[in-house]
Amino acid sequence: MTSNEIGELFVERFAQMPTLVAAAPGRINLIGEHTDYNGGFVFPAAIDLGMLVAALPTQGPSEMYSKQTGEGAPFRANTVEKDECKSWSRYPAGMAWALREIGPLDDLLAVVDSDIPLGSGVSSSAALEMAFGVLWNHHCGLGIQPKELALLGQKCENGFVGVQSGIMDQMACAMGRAGCAMFLDTRSLEIRYAPIPDELSIVLCDTGKPRALTDSAYNERRSQCEEASCILGVPMLRDATLEMLEQSSAQMSDVIYRRARHLIPENARCLAFAGALERADFAELGRLMRQSHESLRDDYEVSCKELDAMSEAAWNSPGCVGARMTGAGFGGACVALARKESINEFCESMLAGYRAATGLVGEASACRAADGARIVEP
Ligand code: GLA
Repeated sequence: MTSNEIGELFVERFAQMPTLVAAAPGRINLIGEHTDYNGGFVFPAAIDLGMLVAALPTQGPSEMYSKQTGEGAPFRANTVEKDECKSWSRYPAGMAWALREIGPLDDLLAVVDSDIPLGSGVSSSAALEMAFGVLWNHHCGLGIQPKELALLGQKCENGFVGVQSGIMDQMACAMGRAGCAMFLDTRSLEIRYAPIPDELSIVLCDTGKPRALTDSAYNERRSQCEEASCILGVPMLRDATLEMLEQSSAQMSDVIYRRARHLIPENARCLAFAGALERADFAELGRLMRQSHESLRDDYEVSCKELDAMSEAAWNSPGCVGARMTGAGFGGACVALARKESINEFCESMLAGYRAATGLVGEASACRAADGARIVEP
């Protein structure tokens, strides 16, 4: 997809030329899962599966068309309220709702073309938010820095879309850097960019099973974590230790105990992963990713049989350094790190193993770490 192609698509739909084009990446998380709403560490990368959005300011309401998902519900950027917009355009509408506190917005005609797989847990929603964020920011001269734009994207998810998500997706999508993953402290929002070693590929291993019931189960996990931190007497689970958890285990239900038993070590695994990546200690990377998956499966209970089968198939494939489910879970995709020199054998073997275990056809895409959301045409 190029900015010429998105321009043509725009002309087909609106019979006018767009004046702005923005690009935004999807994201994949290497490790640190469900830690972001607990003040912890995450390790995502923006990826080269992304979207382009072409736009033209308009006097009429904002109207949007997506090549993949069709017409969005129209809305007025300066007045739209939540529950008013049911289609995919609730993401741009929610961004408008969050941005207009900074300054008045013009409405936009917009066309979206994306190769971010939908329902795979690689943040097509954050990409939409950040793409429209940079469009309005640029066009209306709002002067918002990428970090603040990410926070406004989270505000849109939490206050407008109604998912109590953390900050990882928007930060990765706004602030990704080509060739690097980002070690992010979600409390201080400090980022350490970590180059992906040349000999490794990041592979998105899509189960083909779309994520299901995500919003309600996700919000439930979040409140379970809040309950655990309340019992442990810490502001967030990031501040707790396993010793504290053992001391208080009698005061909490088994479910709450197991949620915390995922969270506390997952945070430590994320830190350890950063060190192992720096040392190019591939064995350690693999061990940490596997532990993360098993903990998400057994204690946090956000995996599913397809994600388990895909991880297992990846672990058993030649050239695999590590693999685990990525994103919120309940379907979607796994992330694998595989040696570049055996990438074809790895993908073939993993997909065959997955098919043998489930009867389903998965998909593997080797990704590169990409730059964050930006204006590509003035
Ligand atoms: C979703 C949320 C993120 C994060 C992950 C799980 O992608 O949007 O904030 O919580 O799930 O790690």
